[in-house]
Amino acid sequence: DWTSDVFIDATVEELKARIGDDKVVMGLSGGVDSSVAATLIHKAIGSNLYCVFVDNGLLRKNEFEEVLHSYKDMGLNVIGVDAKQRFYDALEGLTDPEAKRKAIGRVFIEVFDDESNKLEGVKWLGQGTIYPDVIESVSVKGPSATIKSHHNVGGLPDFMKLSVVEPLNTLFKDEVREVGRALEIPETIVGRHPFPGPGLAIRILGDITADKVKTLQEVDYIFIQGLKDHGLYDQVWQAGAILLPIQSVGVMGDERTYERVVALRAVGSVDGMTADWIHLPYEFLGKISNEIINRVKGVNRVVYDISSKPPATIEWE
Ligand code: XMP
Repeated sequence: DWTSDVFIDATVEELKARIGDDKVVMGLSGGVDSSVAATLIHKAIGSNLYCVFVDNGLLRKNEFEEVLHSYKDMGLNVIGVDAKQRFYDALEGLTDPEAKRKAIGRVFIEVFDDESNKLEGVKWLGQGTIYPDVIESVSVKGPSATIKSHHNVGGLPDFMKLSVVEPLNTLFKDEVREVGRALEIPETIVGRHPFPGPGLAIRILGDITADKVKTLQEVDYIFIQGLKDHGLYDQVWQAGAILLPIQSVGVMGDERTYERVVALRAVGSVDGMTADWIHLPYEFLGKISNEIINRVKGVNRVVYDISSKPPATIEWE
């Protein structure tokens, strides 16, 4: 029978035997998978694991600082890299979702390659790949696809010549969470909703600007904080806000406004392959809508997405 403790002991022993005194480099995303994978590798080889956490400017509000702080608290050997401007520059003027994903994937690879090249004698690349990533890799729109399309074009970045170590590649998400809890990783990381690699860039329909990111971060923060405050966060598999590329007429006092529309999305799912929209309470939605419109400058309308997957996808892009 599978238990997290048996898994942890066996995996740590295996990692020790496989990696020995070698160095491992690994990118952390703030998500459950990479955090749990890093913690396991760290348990096996300690400070020979070098973690890199990149601020791509597309994370949730305060996320970079808070998560970096947690990683340091957990004893991980982690470097935080502020690459916001590099990502914004690469995204400038891009509107096509796949073009945005490619640009983000490319810059991530560049930044990660720069950082890993600063380390000497690294032999391994740690990854948080989980079982569904392995079996669904064909349909995943994720970074792996981006990496492939990238290395078809140019030469392989140096870190991609490293041997890969993926301690979670036999586990499902709920098992990863169980392992994370057994490893005493903070609940703020273990219980976290999935968040796409390209981040808010695929929730801002159309082109990306630092201003739009700021607006969406504020909206998203009110929504996610509201879910937590109302005890709804753990009943939802994934939630977020989408900034639409349209404006709508509103009224404020005697003035007519012409401002942005945001959509809220909350879904239930097991693995993201299918998903149902969640019937959030009307009172909650009403309260959050008011709060968003009153507090976020430039937004005058909030809508709630009531589509399930299929045929809709979870993300709008
Ligand atoms: P969709 O929109 O395809 O999303 O229903 C399914 C799950 O995948 C996430 N997602 C991504 N994750 N890079 C990622 O790392 C991506 O480009 C990407 N696109 C979608 C999405 O957030 C959901 O959890």
